[in-house]
Amino acid sequence: MDDRTIRALEAVRRGESWRARVRRWLMPPAPLVMNPDEWRVDAPLGRWNLYIGGAAARPDGYLNLDLFPLPGVDLAADAGLLPFNRPLFQRIECDAVLEHVPHPDAMVQELARVLLPGGYLHLVAPFAHPFHEYPRDYRRFTLDGLRLMGQSAGLTPVKEGWRSGPTATMLVFVLEYAKLWCPAWLRPVVHGGLGWILFPLRYLDCLLWRRVRARQLGNHAYLWLRKPLQPHR
Ligand SMILES: C[S@@+](CC[C@H](N)C(=O)[O-])C[C@H]1O[C@@H](n2cnc3c(N)ncnc32)[C@H](O)[C@@H]1O
Repeated sequence: MDDRTIRALEAVRRGESWRARVRRWLMPPAPLVMNPDEWRVDAPLGRWNLYIGGAAARPDGYLNLDLFPLPGVDLAADAGLLPFNRPLFQRIECDAVLEHVPHPDAMVQELARVLLPGGYLHLVAPFAHPFHEYPRDYRRFTLDGLRLMGQSAGLTPVKEGWRSGPTATMLVFVLEYAKLWCPAWLRPVVHGGLGWILFPLRYLDCLLWRRVRARQLGNHAYLWLRKPLQPHR
């Protein structure tokens, strides 16, 4: 996949053409509900905040940095090599990007480097999720693995859990599995039809999020980290 494919995906997700609008209107609700606990954290925005991989989302209050210069991107750069020579950001969002970079440990070190003392880094990454290239897909993460990466970069874990739970995992895999059997032209129809039938099951995750065993099959994990006010000795 290259930036043309990402541009085409973004055109469907956010485009204004009548085709994009009809496709969005027919699209079933997402096969997941987001765990509201993820946002119960006191991590205020500062003067400068950084959003990694926001594509065309135009996130409010953040400098939007992405590998590709899509509309809505403020700065096209590789998050593994950030073009800032000192700590600048009070809050950094890195949502579903770590699996797409070749060296996630080095990237987290880089994010920690540009975070202000006392600032917050929010990581979200898939544990059980189908292959998806943006523009590549290198790996998956456990909460233990995310925590280790953050701590190795000198950050302190503040809060962690599952953004989307085991039912989301089951639903996204059923949809992908069904599409494996279809020719390309039939895949959107199967995705739409099955998606509308199955989506109400997503609410089962409201019963599973807080269970320790959610980690067996969780879909996306989240972790909040804080940079100490004083550097570690
Ligand atoms: C799965 S998407 C993230 C989606 C986004 N968080 C959202 O919810 O809409 C991954 C994004 O990360 C960007 N990306 C991939 N590798 C990157 C890198 N090394 N540096 C910066 N952005 C990168 C891709 O261009 C893509 O926009």
